[in-house]
Amino acid sequence: GVIPNLTFDGFLQHWKDHGFKKIITLVGAGISTSAGIPDFRTPGTGLYDNLKKYDLPHPTDIFELDYFLDNPKPFFSLAKELYPGHFTPTPTHYFIRLLNDKGLLVRHYTQNIDSLERIAGIPEEKMVEAHGTFHTNHCLECTTLYSKEWMKDKLFTDTLPLCDHCGGIVKPDIVFFGENMPESFYNMPTEDFKDCDLLFIMGTSLEVYPFASLVGYAEPSCLRVLINRNVVGKFTSPVNKRDISYVGDCDDAVWKIAEALGWTAELQALIKK
Ligand code: OAD
Repeated sequence: GVIPNLTFDGFLQHWKDHGFKKIITLVGAGISTSAGIPDFRTPGTGLYDNLKKYDLPHPTDIFELDYFLDNPKPFFSLAKELYPGHFTPTPTHYFIRLLNDKGLLVRHYTQNIDSLERIAGIPEEKMVEAHGTFHTNHCLECTTLYSKEWMKDKLFTDTLPLCDHCGGIVKPDIVFFGENMPESFYNMPTEDFKDCDLLFIMGTSLEVYPFASLVGYAEPSCLRVLINRNVVGKFTSPVNKRDISYVGDCDDAVWKIAEALGWTAELQALIKK
């Protein structure tokens, strides 16, 4: 419920004294930057500032369905560059795994397509991969399903992935602008947010909808803790009763939480595995 001291330290004290029972995590690219994966919108280092070689009219065209249908090559060369498998999960990923191991995690809602949550051992059924995944692929014409291995082979031999049956273009099941999100994104939140007492929002600019609208599902009694390098979203209301911002790096924040709760050794052990 409502806590007296709406600072990060006040939040840690409240957790130590009273605990939380049902936690939801909403995350974006900022939880993976310390793994060496760029985010999208940080000026200079973000992906959208570094797509010049693809010569796109607008940076976000790389994830626009209409653009892709005309010119799929930029997306496939980026997909090869960012292909899951070269990166290791961060302490933040393992912290979320630890929340799950302790029976506290209701659901992890992610915008990320780097698969680091899966690698960190967060069970698939505990996640809503709102912007999809590289784990499956479909022909955009006849909807034939293709495996991860099939696509990987095409990407790494620089072969345009065309359907074996109809010759249509095959695309990883990551959600492009102009495509629907997975059904779980629409089905899960109402039930998930019932009685949720702590919502973490980590490493996201909250600029992309409908994902960003999830923050509004939290009941008034649910504490919302934003952990981000800059303040985003609507977490600066003058009549704030339950929103806390930690302005800084996700990994620093989770180490502080772990320390406050006496979880440091457990978190270290997960990271070393
Ligand atoms: P953004 O790049 O928009 O935002 C990342 C946020 O994380 C920024 O506010 C950064 O300041 C912050 N950040 C970066 N590193 C951090 C760190 N180590 N600790 C704390 N904060 C950090 O990325 P998303 O919000 O994930 O969609 O972007 C949302 C969607 O836009 C993506 O899923 C993608 C993109 O278009 C699709 O590809 C469909």
